[in-house]
Amino acid sequence: MAEFARPGAEQWVPDDAGLDGLRAAAPDCRGCELYRDATQVVFGSGPDRARLMLVGEQPGDSEDKAGEPFVGPAGRLLADALAAAGVRAEDAYVTNAVKHFRFEERGKRRLHKSPAVAHIEACHPWLDAEFRTVRPDVVVALGATAARGVLGRTVRVLAERGRVLDERPAVAPEARVVLTVHPSAVLRLRGKPEFDPEFDGLVADLRTAADLL
Ligand code: URA
Ligand code: SF4
Repeated sequence: MAEFARPGAEQWVPDDAGLDGLRAAAPDCRGCELYRDATQVVFGSGPDRARLMLVGEQPGDSEDKAGEPFVGPAGRLLADALAAAGVRAEDAYVTNAVKHFRFEERGKRRLHKSPAVAHIEACHPWLDAEFRTVRPDVVVALGATAARGVLGRTVRVLAERGRVLDERPAVAPEARVVLTVHPSAVLRLRGKPEFDPEFDGLVADLRTAADLL
């Protein structure tokens, strides 16, 4: 692949646009090379002002096709976990640290490939714009990539999950942050004895976040 300068999303993010304006501008983003192979940008979804914001990693295969976050298998598991934690999914704003699907082609299949730190950083202006617009009281970072996007540092998910962190996102200083595992990590355990305790752990962490509201 030819070298692609990765200027970051900044110049494509409109000022004071509101969510509709941000969503309308996102398809033009050329902040990193991921737009080239993805089907479309997958922007966040949910109410304009939500007290709870959930941040995932990047769209998966289903989300890339649908253009909406968390509509595939991981999203269904997340919806189940939110319901078990007493959170109404429609009350939460849901987004991803990186807005285009990164994958590797294996024959006809597209295999998820985790975004690099450079992609998280390139895409960060969109996440910041969502924070400034949605102004959540509580942010749940789902897994290490999300946490990197929200906090700007490397986290150890298993050591730091499930409690209210001292840090707050730079552009949303009123928001408290809870870190938990990514729903895909729980999904991979389906059919194994570890599934139930991991699912329950995700629910417990979501409840910790919901209790702050
Ligand atoms: N995994 C994510 O992190 N985000 C999605 O939108 C779907 C799967
Ligand atoms: Fe822009 Fe983010 Fe897509 Fe890269 S992943 S092109 S920074 S929207």
